[in-house]
Amino acid sequence: MTSPVRLALLGCGTVGSEVVRLLHTQAADLAARIGAPLEIAGIAVRRVGRDRGDLPVDPALFTTDPLGLIKRDDVDVVVEVVGGIEPARSWLVEALRAGKSVVTANKALLAEDGAALHDAAAEGGADLYYEASVAGAIPLLRPLRESLHGDRINRVTGIVNGTTNFILSAMDATGAGFAEALDEATELGYAEADPTADVEGFDAAAKAAILASLAFHTRVTAADVHREGITEVTVADMASAKAMGCTIKLLCIAARGTDAAGGETVSVRVHPAMIPLTHPLASVGDAFNAVFVEAEAAGQLMFYGRGAGGAPTASAVLGDVVAVARNRLAGAYAASESAYADLSVRPMGEALTRYHISLDVVDRPGVLQAVAGVFARHDVSIATVRQGPAGGGPAGRGEDADLVIVTHVAPDAALAATVGELRGLDIVRSVASVLRVEGGA
Ligand code: NDP
Ligand code: HSE
Repeated sequence: MTSPVRLALLGCGTVGSEVVRLLHTQAADLAARIGAPLEIAGIAVRRVGRDRGDLPVDPALFTTDPLGLIKRDDVDVVVEVVGGIEPARSWLVEALRAGKSVVTANKALLAEDGAALHDAAAEGGADLYYEASVAGAIPLLRPLRESLHGDRINRVTGIVNGTTNFILSAMDATGAGFAEALDEATELGYAEADPTADVEGFDAAAKAAILASLAFHTRVTAADVHREGITEVTVADMASAKAMGCTIKLLCIAARGTDAAGGETVSVRVHPAMIPLTHPLASVGDAFNAVFVEAEAAGQLMFYGRGAGGAPTASAVLGDVVAVARNRLAGAYAASESAYADLSVRPMGEALTRYHISLDVVDRPGVLQAVAGVFARHDVSIATVRQGPAGGGPAGRGEDADLVIVTHVAPDAALAATVGELRGLDIVRSVASVLRVEGGA
């Protein structure tokens, strides 16, 4: 058989340890599929002495010198499952420039400075694969990067963060508030000790940037993504959504659009939104991920599965390792990005969205007209209005009334300005809930 393809594994935590396990249990099949065995040349970690249980690996392979390991002549492929921006960026740039293929799960780095990695891969003539960086086990990036390259993608809508999907699903199912649902997610091991990256939408925004870059052949970074988390989603918001036959999900949305001059643009955003229960993403519960892709010729495609966890993520890493190992044996490498379209990224204010607004208003003649006038002034068209007694009490003229307004599509800035003006009206006692609406509710 051909001589082995040798791997430098950087990181041996949740994902890395499962990569080691899969390399061990699948060794014969992987060798048969690649045409050469895979061998671990070394494993870089922070603490060599850490108890790693029954990990099927020679302890002598561990090192605290990642750079020294990468530079070794007997290393062909670098697998990075450490995370973070630095020192991971320096390690991977070094490896790629030296012509060593890289497989990484590092969404934060790809979204912050993917350009540094893509440029280094092109310079070194090496593979850069990163399937595990978005939606864990779900084969999603390869379909965008390869299978759909003959098509034109118009929109990608996804649930790409498992922790927040677990929290919102629990709030929907049990009526729990955000804090209570977060506690449950922490107890069950979904949420990390510091859940900020998940609940504030940073994790989803990084994934949105990677998806948008691939879907629209444009370099999109995390800084280009409009981001809102789920910490402000209230029990009242969830009740409003239910009353409309909807639920609330943290969505990542990347879509083509046009600017005022007719030029093609993209908008990329992450925020909670109401979606109808009939939408395919509404039934994605627990900590699962799903991504809905709309393409010109292919039509609608849905990708669903586990977006996190050691073994599911290691599955995606190993798939990439097989691909880059095969390429090395063939003396080839694949272009890691396609950014020729170079579309401009539209600010959130110009993105076309719809709002669902619940108001507590004074119940007297002329109130509806005054409220409608605010929408008209901002050129926002109202789709539906529902009025009832305050707090859903018995019908009849009372002091206050609940007013629920759903708009047609309008620029987000116009919708936000409308809500701002409504808040200042003396006939509006409170703005009980404001949610964006997606998917035709
Ligand atoms: P862990 O924190 O579990 O593991 C990190 C590993 O990196 C540990 O083995 C640690 O060493 C090692 N490490 C940390 N700093 C250094 C350093 N300076 N030098 C050498 N080694 C270092 O992370 P995960 O396995 O959860 O995540 C790894 C990557 O995979 C991240 O980019 C993450 O975003 C991504 N990812 C994770 C998913 C998941 O479900 N966990 C899902 C999808 C992607 P030691 O063991 O000694 O502490
Ligand atoms: N924290 C992430 C999630 C892990 O909850 O989905 C996978 O990237």
